[in-house]
Amino acid sequence: MSLDSEKQLAAIEAVKYVKSGMTVGLGTGSTAAHMVKELGRLVQDGLEIVGVPSSENTNKLATELGIPLTTLEKTNGIDVYIDGTDEFDPYMQLIKGGGGALLREKILTYNSNLVIIIADSKKEVKRLGDFRLPVETIPFATKKIEQLLQKMGLHPKLRLKDGSNFVTDEGNFILDLDIAHVSNIQLLESNLKQIPGIVETGLFLDMADIIIISKGENTITLRK
Ligand code: A5P
Repeated sequence: MSLDSEKQLAAIEAVKYVKSGMTVGLGTGSTAAHMVKELGRLVQDGLEIVGVPSSENTNKLATELGIPLTTLEKTNGIDVYIDGTDEFDPYMQLIKGGGGALLREKILTYNSNLVIIIADSKKEVKRLGDFRLPVETIPFATKKIEQLLQKMGLHPKLRLKDGSNFVTDEGNFILDLDIAHVSNIQLLESNLKQIPGIVETGLFLDMADIIIISKGENTITLRK
């Protein structure tokens, strides 16, 4: 079974938690896109939900599929948020932001009653850090933050797209960090968040309630 089929299988399993009347947070990325497509099909069949997209890309996809949308400020909170991940460890800690939507994703995750993460079998790791940690930075401060993170041994790389700086939906830049050698990720998170100009990091610590992982034709559900 291909990785893409695994993503689709996890997505189909996750939307079983969505019921009519719910406000649903819609994640970003190739796995989340399967979930949005599945919800689109269910909406055509009569499911009554309202979605809150985590990115302009997801907004576009959901709109094309006819999913009614709203914004976070207009809701009384999100019933369930479903999204992919770049890595998860045995403690259900995540690295997200490979697609660059980490800031809005983290805000929606924080404001959701139930957070479901969907993953193909390649996303499960013993220890976070094979994937570079995305950190969203204010353009005004990015050069100085890059120099500081270099001194901290985190080998920042400014994310580029088509030869120019990658710009997030919130108009910021992304530095991708090497955290493979970092043993205390809670401390790392708190140190990074203290640096002025770092808006958010892709560490999603203690935020996932459920992880649905596909392995071949099977799905496994992990709970907090
Ligand atoms: C988007 O910013 C990310 O957090 C994605 O959710 C994450 O990168 C997983 O993406 P894929 O489902 O495309 O692997």
